[in-house]
Amino acid sequence: MIGGSLTSVLVLLTSCHLFTVLPGAHAADASSKQRKPHRVAIIGAGAAGSSAAYWLARASNRSKEVELEIEVFEREGYIGGRSTVVFPHNSKAFQPVELGASIFVTANKNLIRAAQEFGLTLTAPGGELGGLEFGMGRVFGFSQADDARLVARYGLDSITRTQDLTQDMLNHYLELYNTTTPDWKDVARISAFLNLTRLTSQTTEAYLRSQGVGEKYIVEMVEGDTRANYAQNTDKIHALEGLVSEAVTGASSVAGGNFQIFHQFVQRSGARVHLNTEVKSLTKLSKQWLLTTSNGTPYLFDSVILAAPFHLSNITTPHAFHTPIPPQPYIHLHVTLLTTSSTPKSSYFHLKNTSAPVTVLTTSEGVTHGGPNPEFNSLTYQGPLSAPFRGREEHVVKLFSEQEVGDEWLRSVFGEVTWVYRKQWDSYPILPPTTSFPPVVPDENLYYVNSFEPFISTMETETVSSSNAVRLLLANVFDQRVISCEVATTRSTDGEIMKGWDC
Ligand SMILES: Cc1cc2nc3c(=O)[nH]c(=O)nc-3n(C[C@H](O)[C@H](O)[C@H](O)COP(=O)(O)OP(=O)(O)OC[C@H]3O[C@@H](n4cnc5c(N)ncnc54)[C@H](O)[C@@H]3O)c2cc1C
Ligand SMILES: *[C@@H]1O[C@H](CO)[C@@H](O)[C@H](O)[C@H]1NC(C)=O
Ligand SMILES: *[C@@H]1O[C@H](CO)[C@@H](O)[C@H](O)[C@H]1NC(C)=O
Ligand SMILES: *[C@@H]1O[C@H](CO)[C@@H](O)[C@H](O)[C@H]1NC(C)=O
Ligand SMILES: *[C@@H]1O[C@H](CO)[C@@H](O)[C@H](O)[C@H]1NC(C)=O
Ligand SMILES: *[C@@H]1O[C@H](CO)[C@@H](O)[C@H](O)[C@H]1NC(C)=O
Repeated sequence: MIGGSLTSVLVLLTSCHLFTVLPGAHAADASSKQRKPHRVAIIGAGAAGSSAAYWLARASNRSKEVELEIEVFEREGYIGGRSTVVFPHNSKAFQPVELGASIFVTANKNLIRAAQEFGLTLTAPGGELGGLEFGMGRVFGFSQADDARLVARYGLDSITRTQDLTQDMLNHYLELYNTTTPDWKDVARISAFLNLTRLTSQTTEAYLRSQGVGEKYIVEMVEGDTRANYAQNTDKIHALEGLVSEAVTGASSVAGGNFQIFHQFVQRSGARVHLNTEVKSLTKLSKQWLLTTSNGTPYLFDSVILAAPFHLSNITTPHAFHTPIPPQPYIHLHVTLLTTSSTPKSSYFHLKNTSAPVTVLTTSEGVTHGGPNPEFNSLTYQGPLSAPFRGREEHVVKLFSEQEVGDEWLRSVFGEVTWVYRKQWDSYPILPPTTSFPPVVPDENLYYVNSFEPFISTMETETVSSSNAVRLLLANVFDQRVISCEVATTRSTDGEIMKGWDC
């Protein structure tokens, strides 16, 4: 069998003069009675790929039968993907700031348990209170704690109703962690099982309006959140992600950077990691997958876990997958971090007698009335810098925008700016209402973790999706018993048996 696939490799790669021996294509060792370990490639070392490696290693620890060789391929030189930090003034003298994914919530049980088990400290995420919603042409300000003014503007009903609908969504979402919930090969199936398709199938605005939430609350408050979290407006983004944007109970970050969870996942998995190594192509041979990479080495694997958005991965596939992955556009987001010792200028916000805001969300409300698009989606003061800079107390500010904001604009809004860091991300999928999703198993022994992103796109849900992918893989290769939750011997500190962790 090995000989067979090797021959096809040689035929396929005659133009590649670099390789001599293919890793994984070991000559059969007659002296060893041991079965060959199942070789798994993981493409991408973000939340999805790093957790996949960890779930595989946990399964291997649980069961003698599960013998694996895991290799992780990552195009960048770091682990974490869209979760990574930078240091203000490019100096480790200061606390790092999240450049991508920054917060997770109590309902995000995998990340919470990981932080606990790995001894990482959770902190309330950066952010100085003093909020302001900002619809171009119409400015209305209040601090987030200013309940009376919120109630006066929107009515208590809209506020509590939105909270109740968010809690109801979360209750269904939390069933994902129930060990009796089935694994899925189609995200539409699990969506229906969780009774969430009614939310993915309509816009946030349509859903909330149908539930009696006032229009003003939707287009001002909720839209401020959907724009800050997903850079999409309430009349475009589906209601599941809309409500995910409203779920903020117990918001936390890992002190020093969320990426540490993903770093630990990889380290504890014992997987072989190839950083700065882009997977270039994926070719199905008779029983295996052939990966070619930017380091010139081809590799053979029994199973592949694709843990990056396929159409952003630039991976070519000489043969179409059995079930092709449909194109998935992503939001192209500009993140600008800066330091300054001042607060924003009130004049920019046309504020006469209000102190300048330090948290600003935006709405598209003004656009509906013929105004220009807001120049940014959200602006957040992250808190004071952990040490003075040149003797002055400074703040770190985070700006999300759809266009680049230039130095001149920054000076006009903040006055003196002492450090600027710009990063462009393909941040999250564009999330219109839908009832169909990318395939979880596009081809034999190929698992696609980011099939979950058009349903919900967060760090946590990528670890949930990878746990599902790993369970499908294990059940396919080994005995079904290796993923049975009845025989779990470990559990969380709360006594809960959790998929991925314990079964
Ligand atoms: C600015 C921003 C803010 C966000 N805020 C939050 C938040 O507060 N909370 C939250 O939960 N989520 C947030 N998100 C979303 C969250 O970051 C993602 O949902 C999640 O991190 C995705 O994880 P992933 O592993 O699926 O993908 P990624 O993190 O993108 O990982 C994929 C990895 O694959 C690598 N890769 C791609 N192609 C190849 C290839 N051909 N070969 C090898 N490697 C390859 C990439 O380099 C990358 O490291 C935010 C995202 C952004 C950009
Ligand atoms: C597997 O077990 C070993 C030995 O107990 C332990 O050191 C390692 O951390 C475990 N790996 C995982 C991923 O739990
Ligand atoms: C898990 O689901 C089962 C079946 O629906 C239910 O009886 C049980 O209460 C759920 N357990 C938890 C912890 O939610
Ligand atoms: C599913 O949602 C519908 C619509 O909100 C509701 O009527 C129904 O009771 C829900 N079913 C379950 C099992 O929660
Ligand atoms: C992927 O390919 C496209 C088109 O060839 C190119 O523009 C883009 O820069 C590539 N992305 C990466 C990260 O290599
Ligand atoms: C403006 O602010 C001052 C000082 O806080 C206050 O006395 C005054 O009443 C305010 N004027 C208006 C029109 O709100």
